[in-house]
Amino acid sequence: MKKIVSVVGARPNFMKVAPLHRAFVASGRIDSKIVHTGQHYDAKMSEVFFQQLELPQPDYYLGVGGGSHTQQTAKIMLAFEEIVAQERPDLVLVVGDVNSTIACTLVATKMNVPLAHVEAGLRSGDRSMPEEVNRILTDSVSDYLFVTEHAGLVNLAKEGVPDEKIFFVGNCMIDSLAHYREKAKNYSVAAQLGLSAGGYILVTMHRPSNVDSPDGLEKILRMLELSAPLSPVVFPMHPRTRKNFETFGLEARLQALPNLHLLEPQGYLEFLGLMENARVVLTDSGGIQEETTYLQTPCLTFRASTERPITVELGSNTLLADLDPARAFAHVQAVFEGRAKKGVIPPLWDGKAAERIAEVLCP
Ligand code: UD1
Repeated sequence: MKKIVSVVGARPNFMKVAPLHRAFVASGRIDSKIVHTGQHYDAKMSEVFFQQLELPQPDYYLGVGGGSHTQQTAKIMLAFEEIVAQERPDLVLVVGDVNSTIACTLVATKMNVPLAHVEAGLRSGDRSMPEEVNRILTDSVSDYLFVTEHAGLVNLAKEGVPDEKIFFVGNCMIDSLAHYREKAKNYSVAAQLGLSAGGYILVTMHRPSNVDSPDGLEKILRMLELSAPLSPVVFPMHPRTRKNFETFGLEARLQALPNLHLLEPQGYLEFLGLMENARVVLTDSGGIQEETTYLQTPCLTFRASTERPITVELGSNTLLADLDPARAFAHVQAVFEGRAKKGVIPPLWDGKAAERIAEVLCP
């Protein structure tokens, strides 16, 4: 048996590791262990995902919590080093681009344990994003680089990564979506709010560049103030965003908006249902650009750049790169006037990426 330790830390990691763990166990050749760093610790940001994605309790929970990027990364490294020393895995697997990804990457590399990176090669070109730095550094020391879209192959080639380390396998996040899409139909948050399918705008915002400054949050408020008269808005709020609305004294304006349903962070299945039935999704998330592309729900991404260009080239995503609330609203209006982008599903986003990865790692 080949022992693989897979790392999860933050919300967008759970749906990527769930299908991998399932494929590893099903192979009968892999001893699959899961380490949860505890970067995300609220029940709504973490526990509910383990339950709904049918992940077993993690073999190790490091409980590192929040803090500055350096504190978070350093705490994860210290705790993960002990696990690697104890478990002596044949391979460490990391996913995505969060601080847990880079922290465990550094530990595995320094302890000479082979490393696999799932979702390699994505680049926004914007190094002020913490995720971009995490991606570049992780890819530079990985032994197996699993790529979700064509741009990843181009970026890695440009950075001089040898071909034999790179595998175009598709998208593990989409594996989870395909697996749970039917089940999510039983979790209709919209219906509970009295909203019909196609009868609301779904909003998520949490990028530091948007929510960590009064100016950024003001732009989001402006978009909401313009949109709410047109259609009900459903906004499940990330803890970072909620905290900053309070800190910057903008909460009263938010609460005053009619037609706005402010929700706690949603479970995986609840959020899937919300995306499937939204008229349009307004977001700054990375993963949601991909999930809406698969669901063919129009998505407007409030960011200057995207590391997932296939969602714009082939999918239902539009980049609102000038970050202008009025122009963003014009795109929302266009969707309601019937000019929505539907797109097609990108190559290899077929629900089988994790099986391909298991086959590469343990043929
Ligand atoms: C992290 C990832 C980001 C990902 C996002 C998804 C990095 C650099 N960023 O950002 O790429 O898109 O997760 O959510 O890793 N908090 C809670 N409860 C929690 C988790 C966080 O209250 O369960 C608070 C933290 O204490 C902190 C803030 O939310 O004040 C931000 O959390 P943090 O993990 O630093 O980064 P995210 O913004 O969630």
